Amino acid sequence: MGPNPPTDAERRALPRPPGAERGTPHRPVSVLLIDDDPDDHVLTKELVGDIRGGGFSLDWAPSYEAGRDAICAGSHDIYLLDYRLGARTGIELLEEVHARGCFGPVILLTGQGQSRTDLEALNAGAYDYLEKSGLTPALLERAMRYALVQHRAAAELEHKVKERTEELAKVNDALREVNRRKDEFLSTLGHELRNPLAPILNGLEIMRLAADKPETVARQRERLERQVAQMTRLVEDLLDVSRITTGKLRLTREPTSLNEVIESAVEISRPTLEKAGVEMTVDVPRETVTLLADRVRLAQVFSNLLNNAAKYTESGGKVSVTAAVEGDRATVRVRDTGVGIPAELLPMIFELFTQVDQTLNRSQGGLGVGLALVRRLVEMHDGTVSAKSDGRGAGAEFSVVLPITGVAPPR
Ligand SMILES: Nc1ncnc2c1ncn2[C@@H]1O[C@H](COP(=O)(O)OP(=O)(O)OP(=O)(O)O)[C@@H](O)[C@H]1O
Ligand SMILES: [Mg+2]
Repeated sequence: MGPNPPTDAERRALPRPPGAERGTPHRPVSVLLIDDDPDDHVLTKELVGDIRGGGFSLDWAPSYEAGRDAICAGSHDIYLLDYRLGARTGIELLEEVHARGCFGPVILLTGQGQSRTDLEALNAGAYDYLEKSGLTPALLERAMRYALVQHRAAAELEHKVKERTEELAKVNDALREVNRRKDEFLSTLGHELRNPLAPILNGLEIMRLAADKPETVARQRERLERQVAQMTRLVEDLLDVSRITTGKLRLTREPTSLNEVIESAVEISRPTLEKAGVEMTVDVPRETVTLLADRVRLAQVFSNLLNNAAKYTESGGKVSVTAAVEGDRATVRVRDTGVGIPAELLPMIFELFTQVDQTLNRSQGGLGVGLALVRRLVEMHDGTVSAKSDGRGAGAEFSVVLPITGVAPPR
């Protein structure tokens, strides 16, 4: 730092930090001198008073402790810190305030021949250092303005870092949650895969023992077929999950009749509903509604909703499937009178591996992938799916809205 005072051009080119706005007639930049020597106070006061254009006010902290507390309280815009403070030094003070997590724009004032302390001062977090003997009002002003600018930049940076850290913490929480659900899923999957094994082994044993009783063998074979079908469905679901998460799910879309799609979903799910003792009514328009769809995947959407309705509705309950056309969209609703869904969980049920009540649904089986698959498939058909429920015991309603290409009169 040269001893030459800035020229007028330099002075005009100096950045105007927040302190500069404060250094207007409205509010001067407040400066605190931390120095135990009353003579230095008088001298510094004169220097500050001589700064051209004014804009600075000076206070005095005559001890180490008073200075430290002032910096930590953020009492002033800028701090001039003397190197010698009784038995201690300004460097020690800087280190102490930083250890306490306080930061302020501090300029260290050094005596003659203390140039080795300069580096020490910067390392300890001082914004600048000035040799007292060579000080002029212009030099002092320049150093203070630069310190203010630096301080503002540092504060902005800190703010940004804090924001980023908060964002990262949120992402981290979300990842942790996904991870937790994945763990839960693995355990569910283990149970789901093991459950059919015991009856299958059992059935095989019975078949071995009853080889001469064709009726028993036939009955057992049917049971085995059911169990194997269940396992097959599970494995298919799993493969679909991996297709969802890796983005490899592909559709073959072609002009398709929505009526037929619903019909085939209803046929797929009818046995499940009957087994659950749930009565189904279907109400679709007589007109043929066409859309661009992958008929197998779209049927999977509705049969998934129907299977859920069967699973989460007690025997004796009702399920209705309705379809209606409005403008260029069709809405298909699957409504049941079952256990319902608590409001706070409604937004989550379409997430992979989400199951509302683990204990309640455990007996029902499933992996918590059905609705995630439904949502993905509907979105791939440029549609939306939503769920409504008035809470536990109040039934649930799922609405699928799809763009259509036409409506033809009944055949
Ligand atoms: N019709 C419904 N009534 C009440 N709750 C439902 C209904 N449909 C879904 N849910 C809730 O949403 C959760 C997620 O459904 P989803 O179909 O994704 O999984 P699942 O049925 O448990 O298992 P999977 O479909 O993989 O066999 C279910 O576990 C259940 O708690
Ligand atoms: Mg399901």
